[in-house]
Amino acid sequence: MITRDMSMCQAVLENHQLLPLFPRFNIKTGFGEMSVEQVCKTHRVNTDFFLEIANAYLDDEYVPGKDLSHFSLGSVVQYLTSTHTYYVQIALPRMEEKIHRLLEYSGLSAKEVNLVSGFFNDYKKDFMVHISEEEQEVLPYILELEKQSIKEDSDPDFIDRLRNYSIREFALKHDRLEYSLENLSRLIIKYLPPFEDFDLCNQVLSGLANLVKDLVDHANMEDKVLIPRVTELEQQLIRKHDTQ
Ligand SMILES: [Fe+2]
Ligand SMILES: [Fe+2]
Repeated sequence: MITRDMSMCQAVLENHQLLPLFPRFNIKTGFGEMSVEQVCKTHRVNTDFFLEIANAYLDDEYVPGKDLSHFSLGSVVQYLTSTHTYYVQIALPRMEEKIHRLLEYSGLSAKEVNLVSGFFNDYKKDFMVHISEEEQEVLPYILELEKQSIKEDSDPDFIDRLRNYSIREFALKHDRLEYSLENLSRLIIKYLPPFEDFDLCNQVLSGLANLVKDLVDHANMEDKVLIPRVTELEQQLIRKHDTQ
């Protein structure tokens, strides 16, 4: 567990799994003697929010929901958006490049190669649809909801929309994409002939495992933090409007 007074350098040396979080907060290394709190302040990051996200990320048993409930929805949305950017610009292209290299020198049949690359391409397509739906519809709606809830008099058109739409509609069809990515690891470990290049095969499998873990954390943040908070805010806003 990391705390605000810890040296940031020490926190990272002891918990290297934190590294993928830094680009999401735009925090760059070169920490010197700075504590976690000093680094957050220097990068204009809310320290409490960073600590909650980092500790949730480190602890598989962590159940989000309680501790993150006092942060603005805006900060949660911003974090989720930069996580999407990390997946699209860094994690998926890196994974794709490793898979291609593995296939290139594998000696697999053309049919087997197509099976793996087809699987990954389909996954990527589904993933992009998932993310673009969230970024174009769901997250802007949440930001508007939070904006309306702060206003003295909320917009009647928005309240009408709220009576016909709830985030629960999104929640019901929110896919857990990480499980289908796990099937790719299963395909490699269980069904394909062995790969000659141990190291590259291990890099692909551990890269996939890390990505799956990251996606689980991300989807938990959406399902267990974001959706309950948004549902609560929707109900509050309707109640407030009805009693005015
Ligand atoms: Fe997402
Ligand atoms: Fe999602």
